[in-house]
Amino acid sequence: MQTFVESVALRAQVSEWKRAGLRVGFVPTMGNLHAGHYSLVELARRHADRVVASVFVNPTQFGPNEDFSRYPRTPVADAEGLAAHGCDALFLPTVETMYPFGVTGAVTIHVPGITDVLEGAHRPGHFDGVATVVARLFNLVQPDVAVFGRKDYQQLQVIRHLVRDLAFPVRIVEGPTRREADGLAMSSRNQYLSPDERATAARIHAVLQLMREKLRSGRPLDEVEAKAANQLRAAGFEVDYAVVRRADLTVPVRGDEPGLIALVAARLGRTRLIDNVDVEDG
Ligand code: PAJ
Repeated sequence: MQTFVESVALRAQVSEWKRAGLRVGFVPTMGNLHAGHYSLVELARRHADRVVASVFVNPTQFGPNEDFSRYPRTPVADAEGLAAHGCDALFLPTVETMYPFGVTGAVTIHVPGITDVLEGAHRPGHFDGVATVVARLFNLVQPDVAVFGRKDYQQLQVIRHLVRDLAFPVRIVEGPTRREADGLAMSSRNQYLSPDERATAARIHAVLQLMREKLRSGRPLDEVEAKAANQLRAAGFEVDYAVVRRADLTVPVRGDEPGLIALVAARLGRTRLIDNVDVEDG
């Protein structure tokens, strides 16, 4: 695996691959990689001949009181893991490469509508940072296909809107959520949890599964959402939301239609966790 800090050299490599008729897949990440990230690299490999991954802890998607400075950074382990999972190129840009005109004052991409709800409502400006950095990464890397995890369901939808509205010539592929044995969705943020919090954290997935079962047995939506929030609070979480939405997240839900998603965001101490399940799956 080759590592690129400069975008010019990476682009030269990507152009060479493309001239040889090879399709290029891309997996953007913020590093501290785990099996969820590596599953996306393997998925990218199934859709492309060469795989590029990026590791960049993007300052513009963190709020002022969020965990940007303490976000775990493990560059050596990440590079080893990516190489072991068949990644061909690692892009490790500096802040100057990603924001040559500064993190404030640069052009910002705002995807309207979908970013007003759920994560967007709780983390103002977060998705502007995500959309802007992903747009710039797409332009620097120029992939044919990019892979995003379903774990960050709303982020995936924001990226789909971005690609559609700005006509990026990139096909978006989604990867399923990888979980720990007790159901907790893998996340770089899980390591912030104390042992007690870690044990409690698995309740999120259990509650999502209960939401799914109750919806399937015809319980009313309001009741399902209220019960889920109460169960999480009783387990010690502060709940940002525990809701059921249509796939597109902004359309109002009746409760009995197909294609519903149950989504939770909840905090344990200083750690904020998100997860979701398809109501029809499982
Ligand atoms: P990060 O949180 O590092 O996640 C990188 C990719 O891995 C995202 O597409 C995310 O959905 C996926 N992912 C995370 N946990 C996963 C799991 N348990 N199973 C499957 N996929 C999982 O998301 C970001 O970084 C950033 O916002 C980024 C898109 C890189 C822009 O900065």
